[in-house]
Amino acid sequence: MSMRTHYCGQVTVELVGSEVTVTGWVHRRRDHGGVIFIDLRDREGLVQLVFNPDNKEVFAQAESCRSEFVLKATGKVTPRLEGTVNPNMKTGEVEVIITEMEILNESKTPPFHHDENANEDIRLKYRYIDLRRENMQKNLILRHKVTRAMRGYLDNDGFIDIETPMLTKATPEGARDYVVPSRTHQNKFFALPQSPQLFKQLLMMSGFDRYYQIVKCFRDEDLRADRQPEFTQLDIETSFMDEEDIISTMEAMTKHLFKEAIDVDLPDFPRMTYAEAMRRYGSDKPDLRIPLELVDIDDLMDGVEFKVFAGPAKDPRGRLAALLVPGGNDLTRKNIDEYTKFVARYGAKGLAYIKVNDVTAGAEGLQSPIVKFLNESAIKGILERTGAKDGDLIFFGADKASVVSDALGALRVQLGHDRGLVSKEWAPMWVIDFPMFDYDEKEDRYNALHHPFTAPRTTVEELKANPEYTVSRAYDIVLNGTEVGGGSVRIHDQGMQKAVFDLLGISEEEAREKFGFLLDALQYGCPPHGGIAFGLDRLVMLMTGSSSIRDVIAFPKTQTAACPLTDAPGDVPAKQLKELGIRLRNPNPETTA
Ligand code: AMO
Ligand code: AMP
Repeated sequence: MSMRTHYCGQVTVELVGSEVTVTGWVHRRRDHGGVIFIDLRDREGLVQLVFNPDNKEVFAQAESCRSEFVLKATGKVTPRLEGTVNPNMKTGEVEVIITEMEILNESKTPPFHHDENANEDIRLKYRYIDLRRENMQKNLILRHKVTRAMRGYLDNDGFIDIETPMLTKATPEGARDYVVPSRTHQNKFFALPQSPQLFKQLLMMSGFDRYYQIVKCFRDEDLRADRQPEFTQLDIETSFMDEEDIISTMEAMTKHLFKEAIDVDLPDFPRMTYAEAMRRYGSDKPDLRIPLELVDIDDLMDGVEFKVFAGPAKDPRGRLAALLVPGGNDLTRKNIDEYTKFVARYGAKGLAYIKVNDVTAGAEGLQSPIVKFLNESAIKGILERTGAKDGDLIFFGADKASVVSDALGALRVQLGHDRGLVSKEWAPMWVIDFPMFDYDEKEDRYNALHHPFTAPRTTVEELKANPEYTVSRAYDIVLNGTEVGGGSVRIHDQGMQKAVFDLLGISEEEAREKFGFLLDALQYGCPPHGGIAFGLDRLVMLMTGSSSIRDVIAFPKTQTAACPLTDAPGDVPAKQLKELGIRLRNPNPETTA
């Protein structure tokens, strides 16, 4: 039972003639020549209440109502007068003539109004009010539909939901850990999980075969629009499935989610190797909605003296690439300067360009600060390979391969948006065949591209002989240029696991200390296994068309990893610190004795 008979948003023409009782918040009140209209709001929508002056008591109550007062009101559903129908509202053809009402609670004037684009800090401080906005209600309800569909699908497919600990040991996803001091073990700390990675692998060793969990993960890293310190994964692990099985199962699930939650039929997901993605899009998460592509031109620099280009063209770790912008001849000097600043953020030292006026006229038909440094065959080669036409512009990147890919990859996306080239279609894909390692030149060491439990697609001997060129059995799911999930087939052999730790410079001692339990477990009948984790927040961000994951999380943190609503992180009383055996190095004099 409920105080109401209907949600506000459910009072539609079918109910004309009947009496309804609705509850909700005063969205808007308008006084119109003796009649008061109140738009009452609940999670299902708005309905227009009408208060006539002939009902004195009710009218007086309506007069005292202010924004966000909480009401219960009863009346008869009536068609609106012609000309006052609002076709944009579900309930826009009717209104409720109120005969009885109760003010259930009053409200102070809210700090911001629904339709205003309030500053995000204020929105987060008064999140309970912010969450009343239609858009936020829609987002969180859609999020619920997505997790419901996930559970339904996985349950049908034999997956078992198992919880893993939050107070645990450091996990290897590569960010900083959030740590929790232990009172019972002085000087020791738990780490909050960056993911349940090792536990889900152990569950495979226990024979659960197909595991899933919708689970919070914690990473202390630089925050961005699509990153939170505390976020949610749909975490999955399976036994006796290879990457092909996992990819096809997860693709089918993703299609199901889109159909269930937003009635979208996703196309089959194309698969692209990491190498091809970097070559054509300068990114391991290409946005395939944008038709622009990078083109390598290293081999066209024979006899070219221009050091900026010739150097990277010759360097095996260098890259020289072109990016054709169809019709880009209209870019002004100022535009190009802005794009030059944009690529500088990714480490690019410049942004050479050629404007193509007349493609048949050789160097004469081109406008560019660099053509004078190139020879005829280089120019001809560049125009041919990029497919340039009159009126186009070609940008160039020359540097370490990683800098060129990052810079031109980001520029490609930016140009796609700036020039309205982003297609309206959904663009899901798999990126496969990642390298095992990423070589860090500064530190002269290898880093795991995914995590150190990812299996290579080779033997221990070959891996040791050629680590830099070894491909892993990892895969990422990418949607519209966002990495929404990633996983891999894992190492299930102790010898291979040792070899990988070795290459990563993890000593036996360190491996034992950090992951000893996993190494032990590998010796007691470990099945071949693999899995994936989806970023739920990112997925829902894309499904709702939000520009930040904060808009699909009920109580998110700010960019500086704080919560303006609760004022977390906060101080801890001196007594509690003492119990924990912790002394602050820079105590706040006001709060710690
Ligand atoms: P990974 O680190 O790639 O893999 O994480 C999986 C997915 O989680 C999302 N994600 C985030 N979302 C919001 N804020 C963050 N700070 C954040 N970090 C990651 C991304 C990403 O694709 N254990 C492995 C999975 C596996 O191998 O099965 C893991 O955590 O969408
Ligand atoms: P400079 O020789 O520095 O005057 O550069 C000539 C042109 O090359 C300018 O348009 C620069 O923006 C561009 N340029 C310089 N360095 C690079 C680079 N590493 N990659 C691409 N373009 C560059």
